[in-house]
Amino acid sequence: MAAKNDQQQLIRAAAKARQLASAPYSKFKVGAALLTKKRQIITGANVESASYGLTCCAERVALFNALTNGKRDFVAVAVVAAIGGGPMPCGACRQLLAEYAPFAKVWVADSRSLKVIREFAVRELLPAAFLEVPESSD
Ligand code: THU
Repeated sequence: MAAKNDQQQLIRAAAKARQLASAPYSKFKVGAALLTKKRQIITGANVESASYGLTCCAERVALFNALTNGKRDFVAVAVVAAIGGGPMPCGACRQLLAEYAPFAKVWVADSRSLKVIREFAVRELLPAAFLEVPESSD
C-alpha cells in the first residue's frame, strides 16, 4: 500500500530527477519517479533531440530505466514539472504505463510547489487500452 510518506518521497525524487532533464528546445523540464512494491525508486527525466520527434518523456525514460534494470511491480509513478496542477502524462506514456504499470497510481505535482499532489489511476488515464497483439489469423 502506498502511504502519504511514499507520495511525498516519490514526488521529491521526481523533482530531483527533473534537474537532470535535457530540454534545450522546449525548456520544459520534467522529472519522473517510479515506486516498486519493494519500495525501490527509479527515476528519469525528459531528453530532447534536435530532431524533435526523437524526444523521450520523463515517464518513459524512468520506465525504460526501471525495466532494463530488472524492476517490476510498480505501485506508483510521480511526475513533476513547472505547470499548474502538475504535468499530465502524454498519450504515448499512458500506453507504456498501461502495459507495464497497470495498477500504478499516478501522482503529479507542480515543481514550484510540491505540496499539492493530484492522484490518478493509470486505467482511468487510458481506458480500453490496447494491451496485446493478437495471434495472427491470416
Ligand atoms: N514531457 C514529458 O517529459 N512528460 C510529460 O508528461 C509531458 C511532456 C516532455 C516532452 C518534451 O521534452 C517536453 O516535455 C515538452 O513537450
